[in-house]
Amino acid sequence: MTEHSTGKGGFVARDRDWHPAPYHPPYKTSVKRAPQAALLSFPTTASEITGPTFGHGIIGPQDNDLIHNFTGESAIGPRIVVHGRVQDEFGRGVGGALVEVWQANAGGRYRHRKEGYVAALDPNFGGCGRVITDADGFYEFRTIMPGAYPWPNGMNDWRPAHIHFSVFGHSFAQRLITQMYFEGDPLISLCPIVGSIQNPDAVKALIAPLDKARTVPMDALAYKFDIVLRGRRQTAFETRPEGL
Ligand SMILES: [Fe+2]
Repeated sequence: MTEHSTGKGGFVARDRDWHPAPYHPPYKTSVKRAPQAALLSFPTTASEITGPTFGHGIIGPQDNDLIHNFTGESAIGPRIVVHGRVQDEFGRGVGGALVEVWQANAGGRYRHRKEGYVAALDPNFGGCGRVITDADGFYEFRTIMPGAYPWPNGMNDWRPAHIHFSVFGHSFAQRLITQMYFEGDPLISLCPIVGSIQNPDAVKALIAPLDKARTVPMDALAYKFDIVLRGRRQTAFETRPEGL
C-alpha cells in the first residue's frame, strides 16, 4: 500500500491504484466502458464548483427510512440500521453532505423497468433513500437487508448483498459513488465487480461490520459504514478515476 498521507493538514495525493480499475475483463461491461486513451485534464469551471446546490429542505421526513418510505407500510425483509460518518482524509467529519442510497429488495430484485430477475417485487419497497450528514459528518438510515442477485456477466455470477451509495458535496460536480457490502458474505470474494479493486484493504473498507452496539433490540440489526473521501483510509469510489 502506498503511503500518501502527510499528516494533519498536508496535501494527500490521489492514489489511482486504490480505486477500481476501469478496465477489468472479468467484469464484462468494463471492457467497452473503460477509457482507451490517456485521460485529459480540464479546469473546473466556477459554475461546476459553486452550483447548483441543494438545501436541507429537500429531505422528506421518511427519506432515511426505506422500510416505510414507499407506501407507508413495512417492507419485507430483515430490518437493519446503516450508519456511519463521512470524513475527510484527516478524520474530520464532513457535514452537510447528501448521502443517497439505492438497493435491491430482500429477494434481490430492483424496482426498475429494465430489471429482469425472477424474484418478486415487494409492493412496499421502493429501494431509494437519502440523508444529509450532521455537522460532524454522521448519517443514519433504516432499511431491509438486500438480497444477492444473479447478473448476466459470466455463466453464473452473483452480486453479493450490497447498497449503492452516492455522496454529494456542496455542488453537483462533487459526486462520488460506491457500494457497501455486509460482513461475512461469502459472495464478496467471488464478485467480478469487487475483483476490479486490486488492494484487499480497499475491499475491506467497503465491507460494513455488524455493529452490535447500535442494534435496536427486538427491531433491527445495525451495520457501520464510514466513508473516507481521501487519504490512507479512503473509500474506493467507482467514479474516482474519471471524476473529481
Ligand atoms: Fe446493485
